[in-house]
Amino acid sequence: MQKLTSSELRTQYLNFFKNHGHAVIGSASLIPENDPTVLFTTAGMHPLEPYLMGEKHPLGKRLVNVQKCVRTGDIDEVGDATHCTFFEMLGNWSLGDYFKKESIHFSYDFLVNVLKINPKDLAVSVFEGDGDSPRDVDSAGYWVSEGLSPEQVYFLPKKNNWWGPAGLTGPCGPDTEIFIDTKKPKCSPDCSPACDCGKFIEIWNNVFMQYNKTAEGKFVPLDNKNVDTGMGLERTICILNGYKSVYETDLFIDAIKLIGSEASAKYGESEEATRAIRIIADHMRTATFIIGDERGVTPGNIDQGYVLRRLIRRAIRYARKLSIRVSTLWELAELYVGQYANVYGELERNKAGIISEIKKEIEKFEKTLNGGLKEFEKVAAITTGVIDGAAAFRLYDTFGFPVEITEELAKDKGLTVDRAGFDAAFVSHQQKSQAGAEQKFKGGLHDHLDETTRLHTATHLLQAALRRVLGEGVFQRGSNITAERLRFDFSFGRPMTSDEISETEKIVNDVIKAEIDIVLEEMSVEEAKNKGALGVFESKYGEIVKVYTIGGFSKEICGGPHAKNTRELGVFKIEKEQSSSSGVRRIRAVLINGEL
Ligand code: SER
Repeated sequence: MQKLTSSELRTQYLNFFKNHGHAVIGSASLIPENDPTVLFTTAGMHPLEPYLMGEKHPLGKRLVNVQKCVRTGDIDEVGDATHCTFFEMLGNWSLGDYFKKESIHFSYDFLVNVLKINPKDLAVSVFEGDGDSPRDVDSAGYWVSEGLSPEQVYFLPKKNNWWGPAGLTGPCGPDTEIFIDTKKPKCSPDCSPACDCGKFIEIWNNVFMQYNKTAEGKFVPLDNKNVDTGMGLERTICILNGYKSVYETDLFIDAIKLIGSEASAKYGESEEATRAIRIIADHMRTATFIIGDERGVTPGNIDQGYVLRRLIRRAIRYARKLSIRVSTLWELAELYVGQYANVYGELERNKAGIISEIKKEIEKFEKTLNGGLKEFEKVAAITTGVIDGAAAFRLYDTFGFPVEITEELAKDKGLTVDRAGFDAAFVSHQQKSQAGAEQKFKGGLHDHLDETTRLHTATHLLQAALRRVLGEGVFQRGSNITAERLRFDFSFGRPMTSDEISETEKIVNDVIKAEIDIVLEEMSVEEAKNKGALGVFESKYGEIVKVYTIGGFSKEICGGPHAKNTRELGVFKIEKEQSSSSGVRRIRAVLINGEL
């Protein structure tokens, strides 16, 4: 195997595909703009969706890039050898050009002839077939003609060998995944790449996008068959160099050393210390990239800002555990900016903002952290089993503890948190504050919470109204809420007429006037899909999702929070409707306090 640094692997990958006719494109923003409703860009294919759906790409039919990605679905796994919340994905695409045979050939050629991986160390999986798509005997055959033995090819079900769509609808298809076989003995006779015993480590995924999944759940063949591949940079560097974890790669090693030099327990000294140091290194890298992004966000209470807040606050908590000065956290951000400046110039340009936002967030949380930890200890001491929702809410509201941090603290003590109770306390508090009983909040979490909450609910009403006025082809493509206004991007191919705009406003205002309760339920993703909920899947949510229903009018998977009743919203007004990008329109709207 070639021992490569991260920058060598980026270059070798881009050059290989460039030499095979692929145009090199830059990394898109981490915050999706014209994308299905995910909080972050989670794969190189996200920003390319319109082209995977058939739109012509200006640079042609073969593309390659290195994409910044954030996935927080596995946040609890961070600290092990391979999981990170931020990672770089090496990807190559065929937009209706080559298909399975060439894609498999390129992958084999790159792995075996460029990276010098012994083909005997590879294993691949292919789709075993079901009612939606046939058994992928073609891909299996191509792997064998490249040089793998049939024993290295595993047929696996949809659960393992199908990718997408990224949201509810969009391009998807069977994939073939490529693994390094560590040659550890099989853990059981059934051991396969689907098994997480550690024998097989996934490095690359080639998706054969041949279907568009519709809102009705149908798989409609795409006119153009595409290839979408993704290889994890961190994992591949780790494997090529024979490291035990991604934290030993050049991407992390300086950060680990910096944290280690400050920490009361040393890296490698115990599993607990190693994990804590890795979590700090991972979370501060992700925070640096989210704030420093060309469409960067700052810590806040909803959506991307809330994820960022959780990451920074979690890093602060672990820094405390290891008696690390909190200034180390912004020193880490400085280190990452310098380390990545050549590849991601936006970090250097936004450096001052990155450091000041991290400092501000630390200051906010530090004010209440000690008090919160004491309060938690008190609560834990009198709790057996489940911490009640009201106590978790107090930790959130008064001490700025994201409920996920309380859950984590609880887990260390063998306790759990009543999440439904927390949500109920949250909603009831909002209602009280809405009534003016409590307008001022302690801690940092409640900045403009009422305004953003009401606008958030208005966004759900707007999406449902647009689908009534313009048709079911309308889906959210992005959303951005400040205390003053909402901004909503949606798929639609032409400007709206003024009649359509007034009709949409009227429908939303009619629902507001109807004084409908907003109902929150928790259910599995499958159940939500079956009930026709719109929304975001994959990285943003766990297995169980929250579904907000507004009468028979709107049903969306959403993290919340929302108003309790539509009457809280006041009067809805669309201020502007304009183009956002090809096939995507943008609405700016406000809520005006007052009677209808
Ligand atoms: N979209 C696929 C993935 O994320 C391949 O890039 O695995």
